[in-house]
Amino acid sequence: MNNNITLDFSLFDGFPDMCFLVNENGNIRVLNKASLNRLELHDSEPEIFFDYVELCDRSKAESLFKESFTKGNSSDFETRLFIKKNFINVKITYIPFTSNGLDEKLILITARDISEEKRKEIDLIRFFNVAENSVNPLQITDLNGKMIYVNKAFEAASGYTSDELIGKNPRVFGSGKNSSKFWDKMWDTISSGKVWVGEVENLRKNGEAFFTQLLISPILDKDGKVSGYFGIHRDLTEKRTLERQLIHTQKMESIGTLAAGIAHEVGNPLASISALVQVAQRITTDPFVNEKLGLVKSQVTRISKIIRDLVDFSRPSNYELELTDINKVVYEAVEITKVGTKAKDIIFETDLSNDIPMLPLIADQTQQVFVNILLNAVDAIAEKKRENKVEKISVKSECNGDEVTLTFTDTGMGIKEENLSKVFEPFFTTKKEGRGTGLGLWVSYGIVKSFQGDIKIKSKLNEGTTFIIKLPIS
Ligand SMILES: Nc1ncnc2c1ncn2[C@@H]1O[C@H](COP(=O)(O)OP(=O)(O)O)[C@@H](O)[C@H]1O
Ligand SMILES: [Mg+2]
Repeated sequence: MNNNITLDFSLFDGFPDMCFLVNENGNIRVLNKASLNRLELHDSEPEIFFDYVELCDRSKAESLFKESFTKGNSSDFETRLFIKKNFINVKITYIPFTSNGLDEKLILITARDISEEKRKEIDLIRFFNVAENSVNPLQITDLNGKMIYVNKAFEAASGYTSDELIGKNPRVFGSGKNSSKFWDKMWDTISSGKVWVGEVENLRKNGEAFFTQLLISPILDKDGKVSGYFGIHRDLTEKRTLERQLIHTQKMESIGTLAAGIAHEVGNPLASISALVQVAQRITTDPFVNEKLGLVKSQVTRISKIIRDLVDFSRPSNYELELTDINKVVYEAVEITKVGTKAKDIIFETDLSNDIPMLPLIADQTQQVFVNILLNAVDAIAEKKRENKVEKISVKSECNGDEVTLTFTDTGMGIKEENLSKVFEPFFTTKKEGRGTGLGLWVSYGIVKSFQGDIKIKSKLNEGTTFIIKLPIS
């Protein structure tokens, strides 16, 4: 080795990076202490620098090297060096080196160990991917509460794009439903470095509400100081909907039990009254009394009908299910409904699928459900201001997967939004006194549920209503 150069090069011994002087063929002419230590070369044979470069990067390393040599420019790149059976991540820099008194052109190569940075980078990428692809909406805010990161799930849940959110305060989703005290408490908790959890009602960009459980955790820096906040939402919308459905179902069930009890208690005295009225009518000769008894009888008949409906609600358990042709039941229900005088200007359309298997049902109860729905549809059309338009009731049956869907659509007056959840409740009616009992849909609901089915409504005021019944196949 050239002594002159070694002397100059000792300058680099204080450097933490590995430094080499390499000639045109890649021979290492001199190297600093850091390189000696790492490579464990005890100032022995000169070696070819590129032998240390990871195989797949070697030709790139050589061509950049050549370029530096011929053009005299510096360049750098990242690769891995294979040293003592280990790969280490490095950043290589080529610097053309000219010095007076040198008889050959050399290149100074520095190799900085970037393993630690690489490891951090990989960690960061890993965490970024976890955050980005998490199904939970995530947000990171700075100390002032301005958002600096939101993930894809957050964009989906809020309806805003990340660009629209960055730099804003999460207040933009505020529904105003949570009190300012609630949020003060949240700030108190997180600014003191503690984790806060609460249930919040947010607003999507389109104004819809979405419910989440929000957990906010302070992000601490190396010294344990709060440097920002990390918020993670758990979507509760579905849970809320299920809860509401469950409450509804339970309410219907308890009313059913109560009603059946009352029906039973009232049924017997009513039968006695009916019998007594008949006896009294038979023996009286007074036409006035006879007429009044007739009225009593008709009122008793009305009460009896209500009682019968109430009993129907809890009756299914007493009956055996039989395999039933649902299309036939639909057809008969339509025929029965058509006969009514109010139905005479209405067009009935049926679209019944041939692929429907026989279903385990009680035919006459199923028919009762359909007739109830169809008669309501006829009423809804009659109630509407007629505009010389064609009024229609269409019934469709179809089979999808493991259930059969029946839809009854009318062009009637529709149902007000606030009444949608009430129509299945007993005694809910919008009809004039004496016209409706408000029991039809309640009984229908009970019957459909007893077949493990489901009944739902869609409606638009003044446009019409659709009842959707789903019955399981099996
Ligand atoms: N197809 C329909 N179109 C509009 N409103 C309907 C329809 N079906 C039911 N409703 C509403 O639901 C209420 C309850 O229906 P129901 O339980 O059958 O009782 P009733 O027919 O005795 O009023 C009706 O009074 C009406 O307001
Ligand atoms: Mg009805």
